[in-house]
Formats: sequence, structure tokens, C-alpha cells
Amino acid sequence: MRVLTGIQASGKLHIGNYFGAMKPMVELQEDNELFTFIANYHSLTTSKDSKTLRDYTLDAVIDYLSIGINPEKTTFWVQSDMPQVLELYWILSKFTSMGLLERAHSYKDKVAKGINANHALFSYPVLMAADILILDTQKVPVGKDQIQHVEMTRDIATKFNNEYGEIFTLPEHQVTEDLATISGIDGQKMSKSYDNAIDIFMESEKKLQKRCNKIISSSTPLGEPLDYDGCNIYNLASLFLDENQKSELQDRYSSGKEGYGHFKKYLKELIWEEFEEAREKRAYYIDNIDEVKDILNMGAVKARNIADKKMTAVRDAVGII
Ligand code: ADP
Ligand code: TRP
Repeated sequence: MRVLTGIQASGKLHIGNYFGAMKPMVELQEDNELFTFIANYHSLTTSKDSKTLRDYTLDAVIDYLSIGINPEKTTFWVQSDMPQVLELYWILSKFTSMGLLERAHSYKDKVAKGINANHALFSYPVLMAADILILDTQKVPVGKDQIQHVEMTRDIATKFNNEYGEIFTLPEHQVTEDLATISGIDGQKMSKSYDNAIDIFMESEKKLQKRCNKIISSSTPLGEPLDYDGCNIYNLASLFLDENQKSELQDRYSSGKEGYGHFKKYLKELIWEEFEEAREKRAYYIDNIDEVKDILNMGAVKARNIADKKMTAVRDAVGII
């Protein structure tokens, strides 16, 4: 199955991103033909300045490689290294009605949040359709907010195919329904916008411990049994544990011999250990940036080859000489 994931780079990654998006993506590599790119043309629609966009793009590349995107299995590139999508974006624009774009929730939400309405923001779904269709994508794993964009892609592709024959594959979206929302240190949904996140790549164990110490817990005094049910430290720790380990931790909570401080320390150890290999890889890639660029080049060449073939068919169909 050909699967495409597009990532908007938006700064430091946290544990919610890891369990909610990155880990499932890395797992997809095993039984699929995975194509993954950093959507920097898309990020341009909302980016603050050039430095931030450049830094975030490269950070995301390094973070995803470190966390387990395997360039031998997965085609991995930066969107702007496959400029063919911009040509397709223009051609698809002819098959995209104004009404379809005006109904896009994501556009309306962004404008409601005060982001300036401009044409790039408005036509964002057409570029996303081009990303998907140019590679004959079959499945697109997305968060709920992006389902409509995949539906719009099908709509645009159908219009095109009705006029010119079966040029485009109709993609399906895939949402991980049962995915729990991971809470931050204040118990609300972990998000970089709420200043409640625990980042994957903390500078030091000490800083990670400080962050874990800020997790809000109840005020049961030391010596009394603690309730793990609803305890945010327990919930976060259990992300890293199997069933046996979870029940051991539950016993520790019930024993009354340990306090929240102990469990915060334990959580810190779990997080630090889980990302040990990723931290080492990340340090390696930061020191060997040429290797990162080679990986991206290799991915871009492969993606461009597929895109070129598709564009030949598309140009021919619509009459662009
Ligand atoms: P943030 O809320 O920090 O800005 P994003 O909106 O950039 O995060 O999310 C990137 C990806 O990470 C999305 O696929 C989203 O579903 C996932 N994700 C973000 N926060 C969480 C969370 N708290 N729990 C589970 N998944 C999350
Ligand atoms: N719009 C997606 C997001 O914000 C990113 C994206 C761009 C994408 N192009 C894509 C995702 C193509 C999947 C396929 O998350």
C-alpha cells in the first residue's frame, strides 16, 4: 500500500506528538511503501519569518530521522525539493470550485484565529491535493482536522478523471480513532501552545526532572496509599510500560510506601531511557548534516521520478505542450 504522510514543522516536539503521530508513522514503515515529507510550502502560509521556517524545517527532518524514519525503507524529502507539485497545484486549481474551498473548516478556523486571509492559505487544500495525487497515494494517515482535505482531494481528482480518464488514484484517509489524547503537566491536552508539554529532546536529565516535577498531582501525604486512577504521572508513565509493568506500578501506588516525588523520578527515568537512542542519533545527525542532506536528496530524486511521470500524463491530458 502506498502511504503518504506530510508533516508541518512547527518547533519542538513533545511526548503527545510522539505517541499521537510519530510512533504510529514509524510503525507504518514496516508493511507499507511509505512516503514522508516536510511540508515547508504549506508552513510558509503561516510562518513568522524566513529563519524560523528554515530552522523548523531542518529540525523536523533531524527529529524524524532520529525518532526512527528509516531512509532505507521510507522515501523522505522536503516538499520544496519536488517543485513539480506546484505545477500540478495550478492545473488542479482549474478543477477546484470556489465553493469547495470556501467550505474548508481549516481555512475558516485559521481566519477565525486572526491569521491573515491570503490566497496561499485559501488554496492550501489544492496544494495538499497535488502532494497526494502526484504520487498515486492510496492512504493518507491524518489527524481529524485533515480528513476534509483528503475528501477535497478525492473531489478534485474525480472531476479531473471524469474529464480526462483515470489519471489519478483516489486516496483514502486513515485516522487512528482509538488514540487517546495525551495530557500535559497541567492535566489538559498536551500542546506546545499551552506551555504544558514535556519535550522529547530535553537538554539534560536535570531539566527533564524539573519538568516532571511540575506535573500536578493530588496532595495525599506521604505514607498513605495513592490512587493511580486519574493520576497524571501514572497516565504518562503507562505510555512507556507493558501490562506487567503497569500492574507493578499500580502496586507501588497502593503500597503507601512511596510518594509522588518517587513516581516523578520514575517517570523521568522512563522518558530519558525511551529516547536515549533517538538522542544519540540526533546528536550524530547534527554533527553530520551532509549525511542528512544526502538522505533528503536521495528521497527527493525518488519522489521526483514518480512525479515527473505523472506530470507527463497530466500535461498531455490537459494539452500543455
Ligand atoms: P500541538 O498541539 O503541540 O501544536 P500539533 O497540532 O502540531 O501539536 O500536532 C502534531 C501531531 O501530533 C498531530 O498528528 C496530533 O494529532 C499529534 N498530537 C499533538 N498533541 C497530542 C496529544 N496531546 N495527544 C495525542 N496526539 C497529539
Ligand atoms: N496539511 C497537513 C497538516 O497540517 C500537512 C500536509 C501537507 C499533508 N500536505 C500533505 C498531509 C499531504 C498528508 C498529505 O498536518
